[in-house]
Amino acid sequence: MNKIHHNFDVLVIGSGAAGLSLALKLPSHLSVAVLSKGKLESGSTRYAQGGIAAVLDSADSVESHVADTLEAGGGLCHEDAVRFTVENSRQAIEWLIDLGVDFTRAEDSGEYHLTREGGHSHRRIIHSKDATGRAVENGLVRRVKAARNISLFENFVAVDLIKQADPATRRLRCTGAYVLNIAEDRVETFSCKATVLASGGASKVYLYTTNPDGASGDGIAMAWRAGCRVANMEFNQFHPTCLYHPKAKSFLITEALRGEGAILRLPSGEAFMERFHPLKELAPRDVVARAIDHEMKRLGADCLYLDISHKSPEFIREHFPTIQARCLQYGIDITSEPIPVVPAAHYTCGGIVVDTHGHSDLKNLYAIGETSFTGLHGANRMASNSLLECIVYAHSAAASIADSIGKIATPITAKDWDESRVTNSDEDVVISHNWDELRRFMWDYVGIVRTIKRLERASHRVHLLQKEIHEYYSNYKVSSDLIELRNLAVVAELIIQSAMGRKESRGLHYSLDFPETAEIAVDSMLVPTNFAAQEIIVSAPEKTR
Ligand code: FAD
Ligand code: SIN
Repeated sequence: MNKIHHNFDVLVIGSGAAGLSLALKLPSHLSVAVLSKGKLESGSTRYAQGGIAAVLDSADSVESHVADTLEAGGGLCHEDAVRFTVENSRQAIEWLIDLGVDFTRAEDSGEYHLTREGGHSHRRIIHSKDATGRAVENGLVRRVKAARNISLFENFVAVDLIKQADPATRRLRCTGAYVLNIAEDRVETFSCKATVLASGGASKVYLYTTNPDGASGDGIAMAWRAGCRVANMEFNQFHPTCLYHPKAKSFLITEALRGEGAILRLPSGEAFMERFHPLKELAPRDVVARAIDHEMKRLGADCLYLDISHKSPEFIREHFPTIQARCLQYGIDITSEPIPVVPAAHYTCGGIVVDTHGHSDLKNLYAIGETSFTGLHGANRMASNSLLECIVYAHSAAASIADSIGKIATPITAKDWDESRVTNSDEDVVISHNWDELRRFMWDYVGIVRTIKRLERASHRVHLLQKEIHEYYSNYKVSSDLIELRNLAVVAELIIQSAMGRKESRGLHYSLDFPETAEIAVDSMLVPTNFAAQEIIVSAPEKTR
């Protein structure tokens, strides 16, 4: 079989807000490859609705945005990361505006319209109606397609990172990745001086999620296998309001609806959030999701309701055209009736440990966006801080790469992917069965409310699955489904391990066995046995499968 080798200065794994912003910020003399598992727009970014949090209003301040983020984060945010992100928020938005992203303006003043979401004490969410992600992703895609130094690889799935010993220091460094070219059904080698994981979150580990199909935590699993630390994986954010309809797959009902006055109601029509938090519908997301979960279980209800029908139809159509049209497709007229909603897995607060330049533990490997752990979100991400983090860290990582790349030696040619001992699978049902089982037990045992017993059950199950998947992976050719399943199992294990280690309730992690919050907040830091920052290599460590 033809062995294909690609050589670039920088390899970016992921084409969402983080990956594309980084690619565009790199100096144009660098050759850059951007990979996407599907179409360029297939990540979570395109689905973002509410907007991007930033200090843009003169009545708002960096201090206030920082304070709100720290408060929502339940004592676990790293203040330096919060401050760094918020201080760079205006610049990030100005950069997007310069790219041509069309944010909504207020009718009366002509200024950018700022909406509110949970946890924010000011109106500070800049948005493009109720489809902000689409506007951002389209703007970025337009620019990368026009950039001569950027090569785009759609339907290319990274399988694993390549590590080689640095000739000077003998320390390990990342020199690219093995990547499945889906169309050609072969694994190709991408060699580069700097590699960036911008591969999004892992919410697909749960049965019900707002995320698109590719959110299988590939970057986190690849980095973990390559020896990088991973932190705070127990903090999976469940968005309180996903449309509940048998035909609506993962459709989010933005928090901005609550920001503009929508009320959560029980099936009886009673509003109930004041029983849970003084900020009612605008309480932080963990509180609202738990309140809904509690009321659904108490009443045995399949869903609760979000009601904005007290606003005028014109207001609703003007502010939420996408949601109004989508709900109407399912026979729900949101201008006159409440929307059935349930919580669903939405965002991975933990991830690959990085500093403010996106450096991971492995030399020349960066991680940015949802796949990373910067310390910004703590135990609960505040709404609309994610896209902001993507842009801010993409810019800082790009600056770091631009500064250092001249000093990085060209990698030696990596070994080819080894498929000499594997065959084509004749039983793909194993993959779909395991995939389904994993997502189901994660939902049942590692969801919004946890117990020791449920976590132990999940731990037992994931270890059995890991064994089966490992055996399958060792014997059969890789496919994109197998790659995702293998990664989901790793991520599930990391989530369970972190959740079992946290003997308290904090932010998004709520345990019936440990309902109190400990006085001292500590990150759950998982260190792999092959911890990259300590590995010194005598002979080349490359393994191709
Ligand atoms: P993504 O946009 O998810 O992109 C990941 C990329 O990595 C994709 O291109 C994918 O193909 C690629 N990839 C993954 N694995 C591989 C692999 N193995 N090989 C090759 N490529 C790979 N946040 C906000 O701040 N404001 C909002 O209003 C908001 N609304 C949201 C609404 C919804 C419905 C969802 C799902 C999320 C929302 N979020 C919001 C969160 C936010 O959209 C995401 O956190 C953010 O877009 C993540 O961007 P990213 O660039 O890190 O990853
Ligand atoms: C939403 O629009 O409700 C999602 C916002 C976010 O996830 O930050």
